[in-house]
Amino acid sequence: MLDITKIRQDFPILSRKVNGKPLVYFDNAATSQTPQQVIDVIVDYYSNYNANIHRGVHALSQEATDKYEAARQTVKQHFNAKNAYEIIFTSGTTHSINLVANGFATLLKKDDELIVSALEHHSNIVPWQMLCEKTGAILKVIPMTLEGQLDMDTYNNLLSDKTKLVFVNHISNALGTINPIKTIIKKAHQVGAAVLIDGAQACPHIKPDVQALDVDFYVASAHKICGPTGVGMLYGKEEWLNKMQPYQGGGEMIDQVTFEKTTYAGLPHKFEAGTPNICGGIAFAAALDYMNTIGFDAIAKYEESLLKYGTQQLLKIEGLKIYGTSKNKTSVISFNLEGIHPYDVGTLLDKMGIAVRTGHHCAQPIMDFYKIPGTIRASFAFYNTKTEIDALVEGVKKAKMMLS
Ligand code: ALA
Repeated sequence: MLDITKIRQDFPILSRKVNGKPLVYFDNAATSQTPQQVIDVIVDYYSNYNANIHRGVHALSQEATDKYEAARQTVKQHFNAKNAYEIIFTSGTTHSINLVANGFATLLKKDDELIVSALEHHSNIVPWQMLCEKTGAILKVIPMTLEGQLDMDTYNNLLSDKTKLVFVNHISNALGTINPIKTIIKKAHQVGAAVLIDGAQACPHIKPDVQALDVDFYVASAHKICGPTGVGMLYGKEEWLNKMQPYQGGGEMIDQVTFEKTTYAGLPHKFEAGTPNICGGIAFAAALDYMNTIGFDAIAKYEESLLKYGTQQLLKIEGLKIYGTSKNKTSVISFNLEGIHPYDVGTLLDKMGIAVRTGHHCAQPIMDFYKIPGTIRASFAFYNTKTEIDALVEGVKKAKMMLS
Protein backbone atom coordinates (compact mmCIF):
# COMPACT_ATOMS: atom_id res chain seq x y z
CA MET A 1 0.00 0.00 0.00
CA LEU A 2 1.31 3.43 -0.89
CA ASP A 3 1.21 6.19 1.70
CA ILE A 4 -0.09 8.85 -0.68
CA THR A 5 -0.21 11.63 1.92
CA LYS A 6 3.48 11.09 2.62
CA ILE A 7 4.34 10.74 -1.08
CA ARG A 8 2.57 14.02 -1.88
CA GLN A 9 4.78 15.81 0.65
CA ASP A 10 7.76 14.93 -1.57
CA PHE A 11 6.32 17.14 -4.34
CA PRO A 12 6.40 20.84 -3.39
CA ILE A 13 4.36 21.88 -6.43
CA LEU A 14 1.37 19.77 -5.37
CA SER A 15 0.60 22.12 -2.48
CA ARG A 16 0.36 25.25 -4.63
CA LYS A 17 -2.80 26.94 -5.78
CA VAL A 18 -3.79 27.72 -9.35
CA ASN A 19 -6.40 30.39 -9.99
CA GLY A 20 -7.05 30.47 -6.26
CA LYS A 21 -7.88 26.74 -6.13
CA PRO A 22 -5.74 23.83 -4.92
CA LEU A 23 -3.86 22.44 -7.91
CA VAL A 24 -5.21 19.18 -9.31
CA TYR A 25 -2.48 18.03 -11.66
CA PHE A 26 -3.81 15.57 -14.21
CA ASP A 27 -1.39 16.30 -17.06
CA ASN A 28 1.13 13.67 -16.07
CA ALA A 29 1.32 12.13 -19.53
CA ALA A 30 2.70 15.47 -20.77
CA THR A 31 5.19 15.76 -17.92
CA SER A 32 5.37 14.41 -14.41
CA GLN A 33 6.10 16.50 -11.33
CA THR A 34 9.48 16.48 -9.59
CA PRO A 35 10.05 15.28 -6.03
CA GLN A 36 12.27 17.19 -3.59
CA GLN A 37 14.75 14.29 -3.66
CA VAL A 38 15.42 15.00 -7.37
CA ILE A 39 15.34 18.80 -6.94
CA ASP A 40 18.01 18.38 -4.21
CA VAL A 41 20.25 16.45 -6.60
CA ILE A 42 19.96 19.25 -9.18
CA VAL A 43 20.77 21.93 -6.57
CA ASP A 44 23.68 19.83 -5.25
CA TYR A 45 25.15 19.50 -8.76
CA TYR A 46 25.15 23.25 -9.46
CA SER A 47 26.13 24.13 -5.89
CA ASN A 48 28.99 21.69 -5.48
CA TYR A 49 30.47 19.97 -8.52
CA ASN A 50 29.34 21.66 -11.76
CA ALA A 51 32.09 20.90 -14.32
CA ASN A 52 32.45 19.47 -17.80
CA ILE A 53 32.87 15.71 -17.97
CA HIS A 54 35.34 13.34 -19.63
CA ARG A 55 37.65 16.30 -20.28
CA GLY A 56 39.43 17.73 -17.25
CA VAL A 57 42.03 16.29 -14.93
CA HIS A 58 40.76 18.52 -12.12
CA ALA A 59 38.77 17.25 -9.17
CA LEU A 60 35.40 18.77 -10.08
CA SER A 61 35.52 17.36 -13.61
CA GLN A 62 36.41 13.95 -12.22
CA GLU A 63 33.60 14.11 -9.68
CA ALA A 64 31.03 15.14 -12.30
CA THR A 65 32.29 12.42 -14.68
CA ASP A 66 32.01 9.75 -11.99
CA LYS A 67 28.48 10.81 -11.06
CA TYR A 68 27.41 10.96 -14.74
CA GLU A 69 28.79 7.51 -15.48
CA ALA A 70 27.25 6.19 -12.25
CA ALA A 71 23.95 7.57 -13.54
CA ARG A 72 24.43 5.57 -16.74
CA GLN A 73 24.86 2.46 -14.58
CA THR A 74 21.62 3.24 -12.74
CA VAL A 75 19.77 3.60 -16.05
CA LYS A 76 21.37 0.37 -17.30
CA GLN A 77 20.21 -1.48 -14.20
CA HIS A 78 16.73 -0.01 -14.30
CA PHE A 79 16.16 -1.15 -17.88
CA ASN A 80 18.23 -4.31 -17.38
CA ALA A 81 20.52 -3.61 -20.35
CA LYS A 82 23.40 -6.03 -20.75
CA ASN A 83 26.04 -3.27 -20.94
CA ALA A 84 26.16 0.34 -19.74
CA TYR A 85 27.59 1.42 -23.10
CA GLU A 86 24.32 0.35 -24.73
CA ILE A 87 22.67 3.28 -22.88
CA ILE A 88 23.01 6.55 -24.81
CA PHE A 89 21.98 9.72 -23.01
CA THR A 90 19.91 11.97 -25.28
CA SER A 91 17.77 15.06 -24.80
CA GLY A 92 14.65 12.89 -24.71
CA THR A 93 12.54 10.39 -26.60
CA THR A 94 12.26 12.55 -29.73
CA HIS A 95 16.04 12.91 -29.93
CA SER A 96 16.47 9.16 -29.38
CA ILE A 97 14.10 8.28 -32.22
CA ASN A 98 15.72 10.77 -34.59
CA LEU A 99 19.11 9.34 -33.69
CA VAL A 100 18.04 5.83 -34.69
CA ALA A 101 16.24 7.03 -37.84
CA ASN A 102 19.40 8.85 -38.90
CA GLY A 103 21.52 5.81 -38.06
CA PHE A 104 19.46 3.66 -40.42
CA ALA A 105 19.88 6.00 -43.40
CA THR A 106 22.90 4.02 -44.62
CA LEU A 107 21.38 0.63 -43.71
CA LEU A 108 18.27 0.84 -45.92
CA LYS A 109 17.72 0.66 -49.64
CA LYS A 110 14.85 1.63 -51.94
CA ASP A 111 11.65 -0.39 -51.38
CA ASP A 112 12.71 -1.74 -47.99
CA GLU A 113 9.68 -1.61 -45.71
CA LEU A 114 9.22 0.00 -42.32
CA ILE A 115 6.18 -0.61 -40.10
CA VAL A 116 4.65 2.01 -37.83
CA SER A 117 1.39 1.87 -35.89
CA ALA A 118 -1.72 4.06 -36.10
CA LEU A 119 -1.37 4.75 -32.38
CA GLU A 120 1.89 6.69 -32.54
CA HIS A 121 2.88 10.11 -31.28
CA HIS A 122 4.11 12.30 -34.14
CA SER A 123 7.67 11.88 -32.88
CA ASN A 124 7.47 8.19 -33.81
CA ILE A 125 6.06 8.96 -37.27
CA VAL A 126 7.76 12.04 -38.70
CA PRO A 127 11.45 10.99 -38.29
CA TRP A 128 10.64 7.76 -40.18
CA GLN A 129 8.84 9.63 -42.96
CA MET A 130 11.97 11.76 -43.32
CA LEU A 131 14.05 8.56 -43.44
CA CYS A 132 11.78 7.14 -46.17
CA GLU A 133 12.19 10.34 -48.21
CA LYS A 134 15.97 9.98 -47.93
CA THR A 135 16.20 6.26 -48.71
CA GLY A 136 13.17 5.36 -50.83
CA ALA A 137 11.96 2.96 -48.13
CA ILE A 138 8.20 2.49 -47.75
CA LEU A 139 6.20 3.15 -44.59
CA LYS A 140 3.37 0.70 -43.77
CA VAL A 141 0.83 1.27 -40.99
CA ILE A 142 -0.69 -1.18 -38.49
CA PRO A 143 -4.30 0.04 -38.23
CA MET A 144 -6.15 0.53 -34.95
CA THR A 145 -9.52 -0.73 -33.74
CA LEU A 146 -12.38 1.29 -32.22
CA GLU A 147 -11.20 0.30 -28.73
CA GLY A 148 -7.84 1.87 -29.53
CA GLN A 149 -5.94 -1.38 -29.90
CA LEU A 150 -3.63 -2.50 -32.67
CA ASP A 151 -5.04 -4.74 -35.36
CA MET A 152 -2.59 -7.58 -34.90
CA ASP A 153 -3.91 -9.68 -37.82
CA THR A 154 -3.03 -6.89 -40.20
CA TYR A 155 0.35 -6.54 -38.50
CA ASN A 156 1.07 -10.21 -39.22
CA ASN A 157 0.11 -9.68 -42.86
CA LEU A 158 2.30 -6.58 -43.21
CA LEU A 159 5.43 -8.41 -42.09
CA SER A 160 7.62 -9.85 -44.84
CA ASP A 161 11.26 -10.33 -45.67
CA LYS A 162 11.17 -6.73 -46.96
CA THR A 163 10.46 -5.43 -43.43
CA LYS A 164 13.58 -3.90 -41.92
CA LEU A 165 12.25 -2.00 -38.93
CA VAL A 166 9.12 -1.87 -36.79
CA PHE A 167 8.46 1.05 -34.40
CA VAL A 168 5.57 1.09 -31.98
CA ASN A 169 4.89 2.72 -28.66
CA HIS A 170 4.73 0.64 -25.51
CA ILE A 171 1.76 2.72 -24.32
CA SER A 172 -0.28 5.20 -26.35
CA ASN A 173 0.05 8.75 -25.01
CA ALA A 174 -3.39 9.74 -26.31
CA LEU A 175 -5.42 6.70 -25.20
CA GLY A 176 -3.34 4.83 -22.62
CA THR A 177 -3.50 1.50 -24.49
CA ILE A 178 -0.73 -0.93 -23.52
CA ASN A 179 0.45 -2.54 -26.73
CA PRO A 180 1.45 -6.22 -26.96
CA ILE A 181 5.08 -5.36 -27.58
CA LYS A 182 6.50 -8.76 -26.70
CA THR A 183 4.48 -10.36 -29.52
CA ILE A 184 5.26 -7.46 -31.86
CA ILE A 185 8.99 -7.89 -31.25
CA LYS A 186 8.91 -11.69 -31.61
CA LYS A 187 7.02 -11.55 -34.91
CA ALA A 188 9.32 -8.84 -36.32
CA HIS A 189 12.38 -10.89 -35.42
CA GLN A 190 10.94 -13.88 -37.26
CA VAL A 191 11.31 -11.92 -40.53
CA GLY A 192 14.67 -10.42 -39.51
CA ALA A 193 13.40 -6.90 -38.74
CA ALA A 194 14.64 -4.75 -35.88
CA VAL A 195 12.20 -3.15 -33.43
CA LEU A 196 12.19 0.23 -31.70
CA ILE A 197 9.80 0.69 -28.78
CA ASP A 198 8.83 4.21 -27.74
CA GLY A 199 8.62 3.85 -23.98
CA ALA A 200 7.95 7.52 -23.17
CA GLN A 201 4.49 6.83 -21.75
CA ALA A 202 5.23 3.39 -20.35
CA CYS A 203 8.15 4.20 -18.09
CA PRO A 204 6.12 6.15 -15.51
CA HIS A 205 4.01 3.02 -14.97
CA ILE A 206 6.08 -0.04 -15.91
CA LYS A 207 9.68 -1.11 -15.42
CA PRO A 208 10.74 -2.49 -18.82
CA ASP A 209 13.31 -5.27 -19.07
CA VAL A 210 15.00 -4.78 -22.44
CA GLN A 211 16.74 -8.16 -22.36
CA ALA A 212 13.56 -10.08 -21.50
CA LEU A 213 11.76 -8.18 -24.27
CA ASP A 214 14.67 -8.86 -26.62
CA VAL A 215 14.00 -5.40 -28.04
CA ASP A 216 16.55 -3.79 -30.36
CA PHE A 217 15.91 -0.18 -29.31
CA TYR A 218 13.97 1.22 -26.36
CA VAL A 219 13.63 4.98 -25.83
CA ALA A 220 12.34 7.14 -22.98
CA SER A 221 12.36 10.64 -21.43
CA ALA A 222 13.32 11.47 -17.85
CA HIS A 223 10.67 14.17 -17.41
CA LYS A 224 7.83 11.65 -17.59
CA ILE A 225 9.41 9.67 -14.73
CA CYS A 226 9.81 12.41 -12.10
CA GLY A 227 13.09 13.60 -13.65
CA PRO A 228 14.01 16.88 -15.33
CA THR A 229 13.21 17.93 -18.90
CA GLY A 230 15.90 17.88 -21.60
CA VAL A 231 17.28 14.43 -20.88
CA GLY A 232 16.35 10.94 -21.93
CA MET A 233 17.79 7.69 -23.09
CA LEU A 234 18.23 5.35 -25.98
CA TYR A 235 18.89 1.71 -25.27
CA GLY A 236 20.28 -0.02 -28.34
CA LYS A 237 21.64 -3.50 -28.77
CA GLU A 238 25.39 -3.26 -29.21
CA GLU A 239 25.37 -4.86 -32.66
CA TRP A 240 22.88 -2.30 -33.98
CA LEU A 241 24.61 0.69 -32.39
CA ASN A 242 27.88 -0.44 -33.95
CA LYS A 243 26.29 -0.64 -37.42
CA MET A 244 24.69 2.81 -37.20
CA GLN A 245 26.40 6.01 -38.28
CA PRO A 246 26.73 8.77 -35.64
CA TYR A 247 23.87 11.27 -35.45
CA GLN A 248 25.92 14.40 -34.79
CA GLY A 249 29.57 15.24 -35.24
CA GLY A 250 31.49 17.18 -32.63
CA GLY A 251 33.59 16.96 -29.52
CA GLU A 252 33.72 13.80 -27.41
CA MET A 253 32.34 11.51 -30.17
CA ILE A 254 35.69 11.15 -31.97
CA ASP A 255 38.71 8.90 -31.77
CA GLN A 256 41.14 10.84 -34.05
CA VAL A 257 40.50 13.97 -36.09
CA THR A 258 42.61 15.10 -39.04
CA PHE A 259 41.53 17.07 -42.10
CA GLU A 260 41.99 13.91 -44.16
CA LYS A 261 39.93 11.53 -42.00
CA THR A 262 38.14 11.30 -38.67
CA THR A 263 37.53 8.09 -36.76
CA TYR A 264 34.79 7.79 -34.17
CA ALA A 265 34.84 6.97 -30.48
CA GLY A 266 33.39 3.71 -29.24
CA LEU A 267 30.02 3.29 -27.55
CA PRO A 268 28.35 5.18 -25.99
CA HIS A 269 30.40 8.29 -26.84
CA LYS A 270 30.02 7.88 -30.61
CA PHE A 271 26.42 9.06 -30.13
CA GLU A 272 27.04 11.72 -27.49
CA ALA A 273 28.58 14.69 -29.33
CA GLY A 274 29.01 17.93 -27.40
CA THR A 275 28.63 18.71 -23.73
CA PRO A 276 25.67 16.67 -22.56
CA ASN A 277 22.99 17.56 -20.01
CA ILE A 278 25.28 16.43 -17.18
CA CYS A 279 23.07 17.53 -14.32
CA GLY A 280 20.05 16.12 -16.17
CA GLY A 281 21.63 12.68 -16.51
CA ILE A 282 22.48 12.58 -12.82
CA ALA A 283 18.99 13.78 -11.87
CA PHE A 284 17.45 11.20 -14.25
CA ALA A 285 19.16 8.47 -12.22
CA ALA A 286 17.95 10.07 -8.98
CA ALA A 287 14.39 10.02 -10.36
CA LEU A 288 14.67 6.32 -11.20
CA ASP A 289 15.98 5.66 -7.68
CA TYR A 290 13.02 7.57 -6.27
CA MET A 291 10.48 5.63 -8.36
CA ASN A 292 12.13 2.32 -7.53
CA THR A 293 12.01 3.11 -3.81
CA ILE A 294 8.25 3.52 -4.14
CA GLY A 295 8.12 0.41 -6.32
CA PHE A 296 6.59 -0.11 -9.74
CA ASP A 297 4.30 -2.94 -8.64
CA ALA A 298 2.72 -0.72 -6.00
CA ILE A 299 2.54 2.19 -8.46
CA ALA A 300 0.79 0.07 -11.10
CA LYS A 301 -1.71 -1.31 -8.61
CA TYR A 302 -2.58 2.09 -7.18
CA GLU A 303 -2.86 3.75 -10.60
CA GLU A 304 -5.14 0.95 -11.74
CA SER A 305 -7.51 1.79 -8.89
CA LEU A 306 -7.43 5.48 -9.93
CA LEU A 307 -8.18 4.53 -13.54
CA LYS A 308 -11.09 2.31 -12.52
CA TYR A 309 -12.56 4.94 -10.20
CA GLY A 310 -12.06 7.79 -12.67
CA THR A 311 -13.61 5.82 -15.52
CA GLN A 312 -16.65 4.85 -13.43
CA GLN A 313 -17.26 8.38 -12.13
CA LEU A 314 -16.75 10.15 -15.45
CA LEU A 315 -19.02 7.74 -17.30
CA LYS A 316 -21.88 8.78 -15.01
CA ILE A 317 -21.91 12.14 -16.81
CA GLU A 318 -24.43 12.05 -19.63
CA GLY A 319 -22.96 12.70 -23.07
CA LEU A 320 -19.42 11.89 -21.96
CA LYS A 321 -17.55 9.52 -24.22
CA ILE A 322 -14.22 7.88 -23.45
CA TYR A 323 -11.80 7.16 -26.30
CA GLY A 324 -9.50 4.22 -25.74
CA THR A 325 -11.36 1.42 -24.02
CA SER A 326 -8.81 -1.35 -24.20
CA LYS A 327 -8.83 -3.68 -21.19
CA ASN A 328 -5.10 -3.32 -21.22
CA LYS A 329 -4.53 0.34 -20.46
CA THR A 330 -2.81 2.65 -17.99
CA SER A 331 -4.14 5.60 -16.06
CA VAL A 332 -5.07 7.85 -18.99
CA ILE A 333 -8.65 8.86 -19.69
CA SER A 334 -9.26 10.63 -23.00
CA PHE A 335 -12.81 11.89 -23.29
CA ASN A 336 -15.18 14.38 -24.85
CA LEU A 337 -18.53 15.89 -23.99
CA GLU A 338 -21.07 15.61 -26.77
CA GLY A 339 -21.30 18.80 -28.82
CA ILE A 340 -18.65 20.66 -26.80
CA HIS A 341 -15.12 21.49 -27.97
CA PRO A 342 -12.43 19.91 -25.73
CA TYR A 343 -10.50 23.18 -25.58
CA ASP A 344 -13.45 24.98 -23.94
CA VAL A 345 -13.72 22.30 -21.25
CA GLY A 346 -9.95 22.42 -20.61
CA THR A 347 -10.05 26.21 -20.24
CA LEU A 348 -12.87 26.07 -17.69
CA LEU A 349 -11.16 23.25 -15.76
CA ASP A 350 -8.03 25.39 -15.58
CA LYS A 351 -10.06 28.15 -13.93
CA MET A 352 -10.91 25.56 -11.26
CA GLY A 353 -7.22 24.69 -10.75
CA ILE A 354 -7.48 21.43 -12.70
CA ALA A 355 -4.70 20.79 -15.24
CA VAL A 356 -5.56 18.49 -18.15
CA ARG A 357 -4.32 18.41 -21.72
CA THR A 358 -6.71 19.14 -24.56
CA GLY A 359 -6.21 18.77 -28.29
CA HIS A 360 -4.78 16.09 -30.54
CA HIS A 361 -1.98 15.12 -28.13
CA CYS A 362 0.55 15.05 -31.02
CA ALA A 363 -1.33 12.03 -32.35
CA GLN A 364 -3.42 13.45 -35.19
CA PRO A 365 -3.94 10.09 -36.95
CA ILE A 366 -5.81 8.82 -33.86
CA MET A 367 -8.08 11.88 -33.86
CA ASP A 368 -8.67 11.47 -37.62
CA PHE A 369 -9.61 7.84 -37.00
CA TYR A 370 -12.27 8.89 -34.48
CA LYS A 371 -13.20 11.94 -36.63
CA ILE A 372 -12.77 14.35 -33.73
CA PRO A 373 -10.62 17.50 -33.37
CA GLY A 374 -9.16 16.27 -30.11
CA THR A 375 -9.98 15.09 -26.62
CA ILE A 376 -9.74 16.18 -23.00
CA ARG A 377 -7.05 13.98 -21.48
CA ALA A 378 -6.75 13.36 -17.74
CA SER A 379 -3.63 11.35 -16.97
CA PHE A 380 -3.05 10.15 -13.41
CA ALA A 381 0.19 9.53 -11.54
CA PHE A 382 0.86 7.64 -8.30
CA TYR A 383 0.66 10.92 -6.33
CA ASN A 384 -2.91 11.66 -7.43
CA THR A 385 -5.95 10.84 -5.31
CA LYS A 386 -9.59 9.86 -5.65
CA THR A 387 -10.50 13.19 -4.04
CA GLU A 388 -8.79 14.92 -6.95
CA ILE A 389 -10.77 12.73 -9.35
CA ASP A 390 -13.95 13.85 -7.58
CA ALA A 391 -12.86 17.46 -8.20
CA LEU A 392 -12.36 16.66 -11.89
CA VAL A 393 -15.80 15.05 -12.17
CA GLU A 394 -17.44 18.05 -10.47
CA GLY A 395 -15.44 20.37 -12.74
CA VAL A 396 -16.52 18.54 -15.89
CA LYS A 397 -20.16 18.66 -14.75
CA LYS A 398 -19.89 22.41 -14.16
CA ALA A 399 -18.18 22.95 -17.51
CA LYS A 400 -20.92 20.96 -19.23
CA MET A 401 -23.59 23.10 -17.62
CA MET A 402 -21.84 26.33 -18.60
CA LEU A 403 -21.16 25.27 -22.19
CA SER A 404 -24.44 23.53 -23.09
N1 ALA B 1 4.01 13.54 -25.44
C1 ALA B 1 3.49 14.36 -24.42
C2 ALA B 1 2.00 14.22 -24.26
O1 ALA B 1 1.45 13.23 -24.62
C3 ALA B 1 3.93 15.76 -24.52
O2 ALA B 1 1.37 15.11 -23.75
